[in-house]
Amino acid sequence: SNPDTWAAVDRYLADTLVGHDPALEATLAAQSRANLQPIEVAPVAGKLLHLLVRIACARRVLEIGTLAGYSAIWMARALPEGGALVTIEAEPANAAVARANLDAAGVGDAVDIRLGRAADVLPSLEGGEPFDLIFIDADKESNTVYLDWAARLGRRGSVVVVDNVGRSGEVANARSEDEQILGVRAGLEALRDDPRFDATALQTVGVKGWDGFALAVLV
Ligand code: DHB
Ligand code: MG
Repeated sequence: SNPDTWAAVDRYLADTLVGHDPALEATLAAQSRANLQPIEVAPVAGKLLHLLVRIACARRVLEIGTLAGYSAIWMARALPEGGALVTIEAEPANAAVARANLDAAGVGDAVDIRLGRAADVLPSLEGGEPFDLIFIDADKESNTVYLDWAARLGRRGSVVVVDNVGRSGEVANARSEDEQILGVRAGLEALRDDPRFDATALQTVGVKGWDGFALAVLV
C-alpha cells in the first residue's frame, strides 16, 4: 500500500459510486484555469457532504471556505426546495470563480457567497435561522474561532464537519510548531473539551493524499 494505490482505489470508488458530472468537472476546470490551488475535497468526500446534508434533512447549510465552489455545489444539490447555503470566502478572485461555477451548475439561486474574512462575516449571520449543517474548510489557524461560531449559529442536533484534520499524519505531532497543525489540534481539543460538541474524526487516504475530517453534532 502506498499513495498511488490509495489514489487508484479512490478513483475506483468514485467511478463506481460517484460517477462523472459535467458541472462539477467544469467547476474544477475553471478553478484550474484561474490558478486556484487544487485543494477542493475529493469526489468521494463531496458526495459524503452531499449525503450528510440529506441525512440531516438540512435546509440551511453554512460553509466556511468556498474556494471555487466545488463542495458548495455538492451540498447545494442536496438541499430541498427553498433550502439555502451560505458560503464565506476571503479571496475576491475565488468568490468570482465560485459565483460563475455555482450559477453554471444551476444552484446559484440557493447559494449566497459572503465575501470577507470569515471571522468578520460570521457575526453578521447571528439572529437568522440556525444552520443545520456547518462545513469548516478555511484557514486552519482559525478552526477554534470557526467552531465557536458553528456552535452559536447552529442548534441542538446540527452537524459540524471540519476538513483536513489528518495532514499527512502531522496532526499527531505534539511538537509541531506549524501554525496550521496547531490550529487543527486546537480545533480537535475544542471538540473534545467544549460541552457544546460531541465529535469523532476519521483519517482518509486517496486522491488528496493522507488527511481526514472531524464530524460532530451540537449537543
Ligand atoms: C489543503 C487542502 C485542503 O482541503 C484545504 O482546505 C487546505 C489546504 C492542502 O492540501 O494544502
Ligand atoms: Mg479542505
